[in-house]
Amino acid sequence: MTTKKLAARKTAAPLHPNATAHALAVPPSERRLRLGEGLAYAPAPETTPVKIDATYGLFLDGAFTKPGKTFATLNPATERELARVTAATAKDVDRAVQAARRALPAWSALPGAERGKYLFRIARLIQEHARELAVLETMDGGKTIKESRDIDLPLVAAHFFYYAGWADKLPYAFPGRTPHPVGVCGQIIPWNFPLLMAAWKLAPALAAGNTVVLKPAETTPLTALHLARILQQAELPPGVVNIVTGAGETGAALVNHSGVDKIAFTGSTDVGKRIAATLAGTGKKLTLELGGKAANIVFDDAPLDQAVEGIIAGIYFNQGHVCCAGSRLLVQENIHDEIVRRLRDRIATLRVGDPLDKNTDIGAINSRPQLEKIRELVASGQAEGAQLHQPAGRLPQTGYWFAPSFFTGVTASHRIAREEIFGPVLSILTFRTPEEALERANHTPYGLSAGVWTDKGSKIFKLAAKLRAGVIWANTYNKFDPTSPFGGYKESGFGREGGLHGLLPYVTLR
Ligand code: NAI
Ligand code: MG
Repeated sequence: MTTKKLAARKTAAPLHPNATAHALAVPPSERRLRLGEGLAYAPAPETTPVKIDATYGLFLDGAFTKPGKTFATLNPATERELARVTAATAKDVDRAVQAARRALPAWSALPGAERGKYLFRIARLIQEHARELAVLETMDGGKTIKESRDIDLPLVAAHFFYYAGWADKLPYAFPGRTPHPVGVCGQIIPWNFPLLMAAWKLAPALAAGNTVVLKPAETTPLTALHLARILQQAELPPGVVNIVTGAGETGAALVNHSGVDKIAFTGSTDVGKRIAATLAGTGKKLTLELGGKAANIVFDDAPLDQAVEGIIAGIYFNQGHVCCAGSRLLVQENIHDEIVRRLRDRIATLRVGDPLDKNTDIGAINSRPQLEKIRELVASGQAEGAQLHQPAGRLPQTGYWFAPSFFTGVTASHRIAREEIFGPVLSILTFRTPEEALERANHTPYGLSAGVWTDKGSKIFKLAAKLRAGVIWANTYNKFDPTSPFGGYKESGFGREGGLHGLLPYVTLR
C-alpha cells in the first residue's frame, strides 16, 4: 500500500484527537448540556482511500505529459503538500490549443447522439468514482466531505447527464435558428467548486460540439486531473478536452492565445474585468461569472425557523466561498433581535474542523491568502464600528480556519456591507418597508443572487421582479439544478450557465 493511499485517513488524525476536540463552539461540559448526555458526536472520519500521485503532468491530446516545472497543491486543513502539479507555460497552452483545434472538425461533425453517448458515459463514470472524487475534492480544497459527497459530486454528474440529453436535440433548442459550435473554448475556473465548475463549463461546451482547454485553479487542480482519467476511460477522442494546470499566468496565456474562439471565466471581478479588457475588439466570445454580495431578505411574516436555516445555509455553506452567498442579511427591523438571538444559538452548534469528518459543518478556508483576506475585512468591520459575533472555542492550530461569524450594527457604507468577503462572515442590516428592502438589496455593484423570506407570495413576486439579481431564491437558498440558468448582472458578470440558456454561449446561431 502506498503512503498516499491512506492519505484520507491520515489527514483526519491531527484535528481529531477525540470526539470533543474538533467541535469549535462549545466546551465539552456545556456541550453535554446542549446536546444531552451521551449525545456528543463521535468522530466519523471518511475512509475511502484515494490514490494521489506525487506529481502530475498536463492532460494534452488525450494523454498526460511528463511533469514540467511543478508547484505544490496543499491540503488546507493540514497545510501538508498533497501533490505537485505542472505549471503550464505559454508554450504548453499553445500545444493544448492546437490539440483542441485538431480535434474540432471530427468532434463537431459527430452526430449529436454520438456526442451525447460520450457525455452519458462520462456522467456514469463520475457516479462510479463519486466517493473518491469527493474525498479528493475535500482534501485539495478544504470543503466538508458532507458537501462534496452530497452536493458537489451529484451535481457534477447531473450536469453531464443534463447536457448529454441536449446533444442530439440542438436543432430544437433554438427554433428557426441553426446552432453551430463556437470552436475552441478556453475555460478558466476557480477553487470554490473545482469539479462542479469544470462540469458547468465542459458539459455544455462538449454537447454543442466545441473542443476545450480547461484551466483549473492553482489551489485545487487535482479533481480536474482525475477527471481527465475518466475522460480517458470514456474514450473521449484525444484533444476534445485538454487540461492545463497553473496559476494566473497560465490563465492569461489562454486568454491571450489567438487560436481560442471563446473564453469562459469564473473567478474574481478584478480578473474578470482584466479579461474583458484584453478581449475587447478581438471578436472572441466571452462569458464572465464573477463575485457577488447577495441580499438575503427576511420579512417579519417569514417562518423564522426555516429562515434561520436558510440564513445559515446561505452564508456558511462551503465556508462562505460561494459567489452567490447570502452575505448581506436584510432583516425587518421588528424581528432583528429575535433573528440575532436565534443565529447566535445556531452558530454555536456548527462544528468547525476536519473536512473529512462526516459530522463537520464548516471545513478549512481554501488558502492562506484567502484567510488573510477574510481576516482583513473582518478587522475593517470592527474598526468601522460593527459588532462581531462568534461562538466561543478554539480553532485548530494547523490549517486555515475561520469561525462562523456575523456582524450586527452594520451600515451600508461599511466595507463588510459592500465588498465580497468570500468567507463564513455575515453582515446584518435592517429595513422597515418592502421598498426600503428593495432599495438596500439593489444598492451594490454586484447582482448575482438574492433571497426572499416571507409567507406572502405576492411580496415574493413583487420583489423578485425588481431585484437586480440573476438568481432569486424564495423561502430557500443556495439551491442548484442543471436545468436552471445561473449568472449575474452588473459586476457579477454576464452570460448564463445551466439550462437551455447555458448552451447559448457555446453556439453561434445562423
Ligand atoms: P482569481 O480570479 O484570481 O482566480 C480564479 C481563476 O482565475 C483561477 O483559475 C486563477 O488561476 C485564474 N486567473 C488569475 N489571474 C488570471 C489572469 N490574469 N488571467 C486569466 N486567469 C487568471 O481569484 P482569487 O484570487 O483566487 O480569489 C480572490 C477573490 O475572488 C476571492 O476572495 C473572491 O472574492 C473572488 N472569487 C470569486 C469566485 C466566484 O465564484 N465568483 C471564485 C473565486 C474567487
Ligand atoms: Mg489544494
